[in-house]
Amino acid sequence: MRLDIKKILIAADHGGYGLKSDISQYLSNKGIEVIDLGCNSSDSVDYPDYGHKMAEAINVNQAEFGIVICGTGIGISIAANRHQGIRAALCHDVTTAKLTRQHNDANILALGARIIGKNVAFDCVDAFLNTEFEGGRHQTRINKI
Ligand code: RB5
Repeated sequence: MRLDIKKILIAADHGGYGLKSDISQYLSNKGIEVIDLGCNSSDSVDYPDYGHKMAEAINVNQAEFGIVICGTGIGISIAANRHQGIRAALCHDVTTAKLTRQHNDANILALGARIIGKNVAFDCVDAFLNTEFEGGRHQTRINKI
């Protein structure tokens, strides 16, 4: 993990609830404070509520980065991306998790709990949190979003 990352936000709907618990434990074991925005059980909820909650928390600087999870990762990332300043990237592997930090300066990692396995999800989290934004021409492009 990047040495300066001390805390991270995490949120999920019911489809991502189990993976949220696994990732929270994984990060806690590395000494990172995990701020859990819910949901708090596998009872059915609406993914936009958690995508919006995450975006709002990032935008008031509760943490620099967040992780959102739903069944596919699609709905919750769409909701988060409705907010100015949010760049939520749906990733399925280490390459996309790394490139979205380097090129898009993504501040939220979105994962699909019904799409990828737990260990691939952990690898995505590591790649995302360990990779710096490259700036330069990528900043120019981000400014156009
Ligand atoms: C919930 O059943 C499911 O629709 C949700 O987790 C997500 O995959 C939506 O994009």
